[in-house]
Amino acid sequence: MTSRLIYNGFLHLTPNHHSHGYWRTPEGSIQYGYSKLEPYVHVVKTLERGCFDTLFIADVSGVYDFEHTIRAGSQFPSADPITIVSALGLATEHLGLAVTSNIIQSHPFAFARQLSSLDHYTNGRIGWNIVTSYLTNGFQNFGYDGIVPHDERYRWAQEYLDVAYKLWEHSWEEGAVLHDASSNRFFDPERIHRINHVGDRYRVAGPHIVEPSPQRTPVLFQAGNSTAGREFAVRNAEVTFLPSATPEAAVRDIAILDDLALRLGRDPKSLKKIVTLSTVIGSTEEEARRKQAYLHEHTDFAAFQAFLSGNSGIDYFNIPPETTIRELQERYASSEHVRSGFRRILDRNPDLDLDATWGEHLVQTALLPGRFAGTPEQIADEVQRWADAGVDGFNVVPITTLGWWDEWVDHVVPVLQARGLAQSEYTPGTFRQKLFGAGDRLADSHRARAIGLNGFGTH
Ligand SMILES: Cc1cc2nc3c(=O)[nH]c(=O)nc-3n(C[C@H](O)[C@H](O)[C@H](O)COP(=O)(O)O)c2cc1C
Repeated sequence: MTSRLIYNGFLHLTPNHHSHGYWRTPEGSIQYGYSKLEPYVHVVKTLERGCFDTLFIADVSGVYDFEHTIRAGSQFPSADPITIVSALGLATEHLGLAVTSNIIQSHPFAFARQLSSLDHYTNGRIGWNIVTSYLTNGFQNFGYDGIVPHDERYRWAQEYLDVAYKLWEHSWEEGAVLHDASSNRFFDPERIHRINHVGDRYRVAGPHIVEPSPQRTPVLFQAGNSTAGREFAVRNAEVTFLPSATPEAAVRDIAILDDLALRLGRDPKSLKKIVTLSTVIGSTEEEARRKQAYLHEHTDFAAFQAFLSGNSGIDYFNIPPETTIRELQERYASSEHVRSGFRRILDRNPDLDLDATWGEHLVQTALLPGRFAGTPEQIADEVQRWADAGVDGFNVVPITTLGWWDEWVDHVVPVLQARGLAQSEYTPGTFRQKLFGAGDRLADSHRARAIGLNGFGTH
């Protein structure tokens, strides 16, 4: 296992990912290029120039609301990440390409086939962010009346993954590809198997109709932070995103996950934990603060509130101001959408009085996502603080998904590299080999490999 820090460049094929409203500034108008291929080619070349590990593409398959986020182009429209990956793979040589795909939008047979194909065409550089989806409209787009209950989604996701695991890991034995003209066998039918999966939601005969790709199973990312979500992460993920908003909170969240891993029989170190890192870069601290104020001034708060509402299932436009923070916490805990959002609010405001009312809380603007503003050296200090807390890496959140990466790569990366906090060159091999240094394939102990074709519970 390598212990260097991992860096993902985080984006979404959409006009505005996390900087709601900024598109109205001269700097933000670069986002008009969101639906063209060329700006994304520039992004991946820049990320590779900065020795990033991964381009990490987020995705949703519905709208947050029908008013503010559509008006503001906030995570709307949203193009399909899978469609861009071959092109970005051709433009790069080393960068990992991780796509988000949720369990509602495609059948696991079709999806496993797509990712095997992409893993071939990129020489083993594919990752998958497994999401169960939190948008009511996303479910309505695929035949459901509304959102499927939270924990049921994780059960569904496990079956989805088990189908994919069987196809990726077990349908084709090693040695099935012969290319042997003398015996007239391109493949060996004896070594290619049906999977005959019969489960609660899926019936899949197989065999997998794409031969095993360099990694077989793509590198698995997941961000569950509820009780069910963490269990799912520990059973399946190789890299997980912590909800922690501060290094102190990360210490707590890592301990929770490590403890769970031990209880579920997994080596805690085999699960990489990474956090979101949002920054505003300035050549002086004063300049960084000025840029942060400018960003704040151009935030479209209605779009941001609509985004939070769709995400959490809590209607932020109609919370009675006398609602206490404690009541809000309880609503999050039982939300059928994203449950862990509340932890970030609390982490950022550790002294928050739970009996304070929502009105007072809003006044404190505790809702706003924190961006660290500083010089490259101060950002490197911040990275060091997170590393000291035990995190394995970062999902770097840009201000604009297009263009901004040059600033990070030109100014922050050299400082990180000089301090040994970021790699200066790529090691050869597949995405998994680069991240973990232990081969192209999932670990032998991983559920997908350990339990074999016939060992997946009742399925
Ligand atoms: C860094 C990060 C990226 C995420 N990307 C997506 C995404 O692209 N699409 C999506 O539907 N959910 C995404 N999520 C949400 C998670 O998949 C999950 O729903 C969320 O962390 C809540 O899980 P929980 O209910 O188990 O706490 C992301 C979460 C994090 C922390």
